[in-house]
Amino acid sequence: MPKIILITGATDGIGRETARRLSADGHHLLLHGRSVPKLAATAEELRNRYGAKSVETYQADFSALDQVARLGLILREKHHCIDVLINNAGVFKTVHAAASDGVDLRFVVNAFAPALLAQLLLPILPADGRVVNLSSAAQASVEFAAPGAKRRLKAMDAYAQSKLALTMWSQAFAKERPNGPVSVAVNPGSLLATKMVRKGFGVAGNDIGIGADILVQAALSDEFADATGRYFDNDVGAFTSPHPDAADPSKVGRVVGMVEDRIAEYLREPLHACLRPADTAVTRDAFEESGRAGFYGALAS
Ligand SMILES: NC(=O)c1ccc[n+]([C@@H]2O[C@H](COP(=O)([O-])OP(=O)(O)OC[C@H]3O[C@@H](n4cnc5c(N)ncnc54)[C@H](OP(=O)(O)O)[C@@H]3O)[C@@H](O)[C@H]2O)c1
Repeated sequence: MPKIILITGATDGIGRETARRLSADGHHLLLHGRSVPKLAATAEELRNRYGAKSVETYQADFSALDQVARLGLILREKHHCIDVLINNAGVFKTVHAAASDGVDLRFVVNAFAPALLAQLLLPILPADGRVVNLSSAAQASVEFAAPGAKRRLKAMDAYAQSKLALTMWSQAFAKERPNGPVSVAVNPGSLLATKMVRKGFGVAGNDIGIGADILVQAALSDEFADATGRYFDNDVGAFTSPHPDAADPSKVGRVVGMVEDRIAEYLREPLHACLRPADTAVTRDAFEESGRAGFYGALAS
């Protein structure tokens, strides 16, 4: 049966490859990206080459949490149910290491944004729904001063810390919700052939399909139906233990607390108060399909 699946960072790399596979299988795809032209090109490719019948596009820059919040609200307005959220958007090397509020960009995009989006979509994620959080083999102890520190972390340190933060958060999110939705962290495989790897490591990388296949399985297969709170390492092809810090309740508590503190202001009601209409976050076609006007229509114009 076709599912409604939201993929963040669907305009390139593993996210786009996953979207291709899911389109070919007839699922209704909600594609997120930060670039409107790349979103349009991806949607067109899915329709023309992969037979996608049903694709929506949503634009938001995840380095700005208010854009993530707006995206979550708009998705809630438009959809009563999203079966699967694949939290795939991620960043490693970047020209600017700090987001607009001075916080390390890797933490914002790789950890805070996916946590915020999942929290906002919780009302429309069914009990048997899934949240797939993209982890990595690169995981490192989180330095608590790191996200907002004046001393900038090296790219790999920031990346690995942000990935452990998301992995811990994924566990904690699951623990609080034993009846679902499933929350699972997945390392899609190391050094897969994407621009992140080409730019970050200067190598062509391994078959990107390795990553897309495991994300499709995490999203839909029975093997992952009881996997809530777990970590799947596709380098070894099995559920394993993440970084040892993820087994230390006090460290988990501190890291998850940090994530929750960072996103709290965007979860407060009324949510609209934190959203400035000047920042447009969603492309027009999603609204035109919905036929909605009013507050969200104004944002889209
Ligand atoms: N490739 C690997 O070997 C590997 C290994 C372990 C984990 N991962 C994880 O897998 C996920 C996908 O990575 P990838 O290798 O496919 O990298 P990629 O090709 O660079 O794709 C990353 C995606 O995230 C989007 N993105 C980046 N910054 C964003 C922002 N500020 N706001 C919104 N979207 C943003 C990108 O948008 P644009 O298209 O506009 O650039 C792109 O769609 C990441 O979470 C990564 O950490 C990858």
